[in-house]
Parts: sequence; C-alpha cells; structure tokens
Amino acid sequence: MNNQNTINDIRSKIDIVELIGEYAPLEQKGSHFWGSCPFHKDKSPSLMVDPQKQTFNCWSCHRSGNVFNFYQEIENVDFKEALKALGERVGVSLTGGISSFDSRYSKYYEIYDLSSKFYQLMLNTDSGKEAKEYLKKRGIDDETIKEFGIGLAPNEKNKLVSYLQKKNYDSNTLSDLWLLNGEVDTFINRIMFPLDDRNGRVVGFSGRIYTESNFSKYMNTKETPIFKKGSCLYHYKSSKEYVRIEKSVIIMEGFMDVIRASTIGVKNTVALMGTALTDEQIVLLKKLSLNVYLCLDGDKPGLDAALHNGETLEKAGFNVKVIYLKDDEDPDSYILKYGKEKFISLIENALNYSDFKISRLKMDIDFSSPDELTKYIENVLKEISLVESEITREIMLKKLATETNVSYNTLEKNLNEYLNAKDSSYIKQQNFISKEENIRKDKYTRASLEFLYYMLINPKVIKVYDSKKLYFIDSNMRNLAGEISYYYHNYGDILIADFYTYLNDKKELLVVFEEVIKLSLDEEINDYVIDDYVRVISDYNVRQEIVRLRELMMKESDELEKAKIAEKIRLLRIEE
Ligand code: CTP
Ligand code: MN
Repeated sequence: MNNQNTINDIRSKIDIVELIGEYAPLEQKGSHFWGSCPFHKDKSPSLMVDPQKQTFNCWSCHRSGNVFNFYQEIENVDFKEALKALGERVGVSLTGGISSFDSRYSKYYEIYDLSSKFYQLMLNTDSGKEAKEYLKKRGIDDETIKEFGIGLAPNEKNKLVSYLQKKNYDSNTLSDLWLLNGEVDTFINRIMFPLDDRNGRVVGFSGRIYTESNFSKYMNTKETPIFKKGSCLYHYKSSKEYVRIEKSVIIMEGFMDVIRASTIGVKNTVALMGTALTDEQIVLLKKLSLNVYLCLDGDKPGLDAALHNGETLEKAGFNVKVIYLKDDEDPDSYILKYGKEKFISLIENALNYSDFKISRLKMDIDFSSPDELTKYIENVLKEISLVESEITREIMLKKLATETNVSYNTLEKNLNEYLNAKDSSYIKQQNFISKEENIRKDKYTRASLEFLYYMLINPKVIKVYDSKKLYFIDSNMRNLAGEISYYYHNYGDILIADFYTYLNDKKELLVVFEEVIKLSLDEEINDYVIDDYVRVISDYNVRQEIVRLRELMMKESDELEKAKIAEKIRLLRIEE
C-alpha cells in the first residue's frame, strides 16, 4: 500500500462525528451535526460536521478540514503525529517509519532540518565567534538563540553542501532547495534564521550579514515546492499556544521584531517578513485568531502598510487594532530603547483601526489654518461614512465635533451627504465596469467553481476536463483542477476528506478547494449542464484572449505585426 492509500485508510476508519464529539457535544440537525466550536468562545453553535463528506467547518473561525486537520489543531501536533496517534487508535501500524508517510516532500524537510542543525552547530564553533559577538551586542542571548534555532553559515565556500553530499544528497536537489548556487553554498558568512511552515517544519532560511559588507542585508530562500515567502508567517506554529492564551495575535514586519518581543515574554506574534499581506496569510491568520494587532514599523512605509493591511484585514472580518510606533522605530528598536513595560502599555492602548486612520490624517494638519482644518474634517467625514455601525459613526462624529469645535449638527448634515454619495458612487462604479462584463465574469467564476465541484464528486467530469484540456485563467483554480485529475488517475475515486490531506502542503489550493466544497450542489448532474460549464469557461477564455490581443495591438507600431494580431483576433471571433 502506498503512503496516500495508508493515510486514506486510517482516515476512513475514524468517524469524524465520533472524534469531534470527544471534544465538543454535537447534535444532529438534518443531515449534519452541529456544536459549539472548541477552538474559540462560541455562543451559538457554529461548528458543522458533515458525516457524509467526513469534514468539519466552523462558520465563525473558518477552521475546516478532515479528522487529521481537527486532531492537529486541537492537540497542537503536526501531521505526522496526528497520523501516528489516529493510526494507533484504529490499529493501522505505520510500517517503514512514519517519516516516509510525510508526503512526497519528506526528503526536502529532512535536508532543511539537517541544514538548520548544521548551522546551529557552526555558530558554536570558533568560526562563529564574531557572529556570536554580534548577536550578543544586539541583546540576543543563548536562550533566545536556541529558541529560534539561530545559526551560522560560515565564511567558507562549500561547508554545508559538502556536509550534505557526504550524506548522499544529490546536487540537483540541493540546488532546487536553494542551498547550492552553482558550485558554492548559497549562504556564506551569514547569520541564519530558519523559517518554519505552519506545522513547525523548517522549509527555508533567511540569512543576515553581520560584518561590514556590500551584500544586501537579508537573503532568503527563493520559492520551492514547499516554500513561498508570501504565504509564510514567521513564528506561526510557535505562536499558537500563546495566541490561545492572549486571544489575539500581534503582526509585525520582521523576524527580529518577533525575536525581540519574545525576550520580554510577548510571544503571541508573527512576522510578515517585509511583504504585503497575502490571501494565503489571511487564511492562516483566520485559523489563529480574529483579533489582530498590527505592529508595523513607525516609518512612512510601515504606516502605509498598516493602513493598507488594516483595510484588507477588516474586510476579511478581523477586529483590527493598530500599535503605532513613533519616530521611525520598529518593535525591535522600541523595546530595546523603552523596555517591556512601555511596550506592553502600547499594546494595551492600541487604537481601533478606524481611529488609527483618522489619527493618520491628523498628523499632517495645521489646526490653525481654516483651509487645512476644513480639508481634515472632510477627510474624516469620508472615513466615518465608510464605517458600517451607526453607533460607532455617532461616537466618532461626537469626537470630531469636540476636537474641531464645529457643531455636531453641521457635521452630521455633511456626513449624510457623504453617506448618500457613497451609495450612488457605488452604483456609478458598477455601471462603469459595464454590467454585461460583470455578469459574464460572475458567470465564468461560478461555472469554474461548480465545474471543479463536479470534478471532485464525479469521475465523468474529470474525463471531460482531460479530453477538452480545459484551461482556467486563475492559476489556483488551474492547479486545483490539475491536482484533482492527477489524484484520480493515481489513487482512484476521490473522497473529499482524503483530498484535504492530499492538499495539506498546498496552501493556496486549499483556499479554492474550501470555496468549492462549500457549494452545496445536487449530486446528480447531466451532460447538458457539464457542456454548459465548458462553454462558459471556454468563451470567457476566448474573450480574455481577445482583450489581451487588442491591448497588444494598440502597443504595436509595426503595421505588419498589427495585421497579424488582427487576423488572430478575427479567427478567435469566429470561434466565439
Ligand atoms: N527583508 C528581506 N529582504 C531584505 C530586507 C528585508 O527579506 N533585503 C524582510 C526580512 O524578513 C525582515 C523584514 O523584511 O525581517 C523587515 O525588514 P527590515 O525592517 O529591514 O529588517 P529588520 O527587522 O529591521 O532587521 P534588522 O533589525 O536586523 O536590521
Ligand atoms: Mn529592525
């Protein structure tokens, strides 16, 4: 039996209703079971367990998955441990060692794990003296070094790679993992910070220079099948137990910030590693906590990032607070300068996101100038008009009246204008994009998601996908379709719950997958409906291609090339 089949075998022997029932009382309503979600305070039961699909889903915190996902989350263990524990329950022994069950990337994890240990050893050798000194100067003691697995890539050409080659790992794999660059180690003479995935496994590194040097400050592992910087949150796994206690998570910019905060006992933290918040990171955060603090750098880019990310998080349903650091400080430098008590009091006095936005507007205002004050009031009114809750709007309006000495009534009258304008500008915007185009896009998206749904439950649809070589413009949808087909051809019929495990390492695909299986469509499907999906999807692709070609043609100056593109468009039109 191969790995995937053994995993599926264990999965199928454990009833999800029974397992979850051990942690939360469940009650049957119709074809589903409901209970209070054990992962957060849940007044109305929002945890839904589906005995047919063998999956669970919380409508409040958005945790979802199969028995393994549930067990991992509630016992705070990684996939391997969950597999072992649940396997033991049903008497499936994992012969050949569990590590071989660790998905097809087990070798990669092994290599990174070895490399991380190697770097840590190097820091404690003679050649690590200067790096140790640097860390000490920055106030990072041995305990912290150990906690974060900090190490050293020594100032030698092939130290790590020759160590790994002696263990029989081939150069190609090491290159793929960005540890080998041509003939030499990728990381040379840098302090090494291991980057963990959401299960706490090392999946990459960030190396920092620590001596005078012209090289860029940080160098990171590039994208691999198990690592993408944009979907990673530094310290995610380790923050979990602290997030559970604090009921909130603090988002910082760099990993030095997280490390520094840990030295003063603030450990419910994650770092974005200098990127803008991505959809994948939002999915991960939702699993942690819906209460987030943004504690980004106090410089201009940091403030802009707080504004931007705050907006994104609010829209995604988080309660957002902002910890504002003044004078260009980052959490690391702030804590070093002002100490633990001051930083804790910053957390306690964090601003609500909307108040933060307003305080940002205030920063550049000269209150003695009527013009500037008027502009400020207008901007604030605009912000208030975006707030959903009427109560919050009133509170904000009262604050503004006191602050500016303008009467509440006048402000309210003006606010109403903004509120009306908001409604009509929304309509205008909708019309602008052309209703027709919107409808077409919605139809395309719906058809794509529904087609994917039927691929999952009906092999007939997989065959249609294979034979028509159906193309999805969205790369995640495209890859999900590819994986479904691959899985079916290798392992046979697809059970939703098993497919969850299979996608474990593909976070971006899980997002689409979860959207797809939330659709509850008729199990039965006839060929006409499938044909219709195929038609909608292909038509949309053709239209998009025409749009692309038209833009290309506009930019083209060569008449002959222009004519060639026009001909292509003509042919596509016929197809359409
Ligand atoms: N970063 C990066 N590559 C760079 C610069 C930054 O990947 N060339 C990422 C790192 O993950 C870093 C984060 O962006 O943790 C924040 O960058 P920055 O504020 O410059 O780093 P600091 O946390 O201030 O690091 P240090 O205090 O060591 O200078
Ligand atoms: Mn810093």
